[in-house]
Amino acid sequence: MSKEKSGAAQSVVHSLTVQAGPNIAVAKYWGKRDAGPLNLPINSSLSFTLDHSDIHATTTVAASTDFAKDRIWLNGREEPVVKRVATVLRELRKRCTDPARKKCGLRIVSRNSFPTAAGMASSAAGYCALTVAVAGVLRVAASYPGELTAVARMGSGSACRSLLGGLVQWHKGVKADGTDSIATQIQPAGHWPINMTVVVVSAEKKLVSSSSGMQTSVRTSDLLAHRAGALVDGRIAALKAAHAAKDFARFGELVMRDSNQFHATCLDTYPPIFYLNDVSRCIIRVVHGLNAHVGRVVAAYTFDAGSNAFVFSEPQHTALVNAVIAHFFPGENSPKKRTRLDVGVCMAELEARLKMKPLAAGTVTRLYHSKVGGGPRSYSTAELSLMDTDTWLPK
Ligand code: PMV
Repeated sequence: MSKEKSGAAQSVVHSLTVQAGPNIAVAKYWGKRDAGPLNLPINSSLSFTLDHSDIHATTTVAASTDFAKDRIWLNGREEPVVKRVATVLRELRKRCTDPARKKCGLRIVSRNSFPTAAGMASSAAGYCALTVAVAGVLRVAASYPGELTAVARMGSGSACRSLLGGLVQWHKGVKADGTDSIATQIQPAGHWPINMTVVVVSAEKKLVSSSSGMQTSVRTSDLLAHRAGALVDGRIAALKAAHAAKDFARFGELVMRDSNQFHATCLDTYPPIFYLNDVSRCIIRVVHGLNAHVGRVVAAYTFDAGSNAFVFSEPQHTALVNAVIAHFFPGENSPKKRTRLDVGVCMAELEARLKMKPLAAGTVTRLYHSKVGGGPRSYSTAELSLMDTDTWLPK
């Protein structure tokens, strides 16, 4: 049996494991201005990187001259090296200054701790972890994070924002080569602790991928052209100011408006794209109902290209927000029902205000609890590796 088939390598193997969190946009990226592999956006965007304790992509990369070709395993299955992965690998090899490592074949094993391709930014976490891990094993000479964010962007546009923690801006840039279309940190995670409740309405893969959806929108939606040309920059400035001032009422309203406007551009696309479903719309109703009941914005929702909700709250309101979500959307892992006594709002009064009863148990499949977190973390220890260090195949 050849070495390649058995997996074992005799030459030195360089390996690194990287864990990265997804990010959730508060000012959405939707639309590319190039047809090629650069993924240059028509508008800048702003996002929070999620803490990776619970929700993350983990990627182990091994490099050896014994590996005849690049191979990749995603969530337990070997997959072909698709064009976008090949682009990222090519860009990183171009920047590799170590002649021995430049010749290495790569083995990549990646796993998500959350549903893939369901509008939970799995590709952002995955391409971020891939970029950082391959850059590490190939000793890539690129400015960090600047130039590396531009490489991650070629895998999945929004991935460039996961290379940094906290509140992150992806600047659309103006250059045709994309060198100024990079991500920078606006505020570190510690500036303002915001919690997120992720309501998984559907773990199914979305019917329209973001790449193909945004292409159709750019071609057909007048509203998207107006949004990108005249609205997003002002929204980003306002979001940054509200975040700097820790003004949740203002920040939350802007986040919800931006999510709604993004989904309006989807509806304005021809033929229209529907990412939200009836359960998503119920979540929107409950959040507005709760805010009206309390008398100010204590919860804010946002939805990416999928039906799953990300609900933000400040720590002093998270128990209330979670209790209300768990009450109306009982999921597999919902905590026990809460009453007025421990969260300050009477669920019966809220039901009456909303004219809405809790949805059937299981309509929502899962709740994840996360918070704004830091950028990717690298590990060189064998315990965290997803590869067996004898065979260099997935564990
Ligand atoms: O990076 P992509 O190609 O998966 O597109 C992401 C698009 C949205 O998630 C809907 C918005 C965003 O800015 O993340």
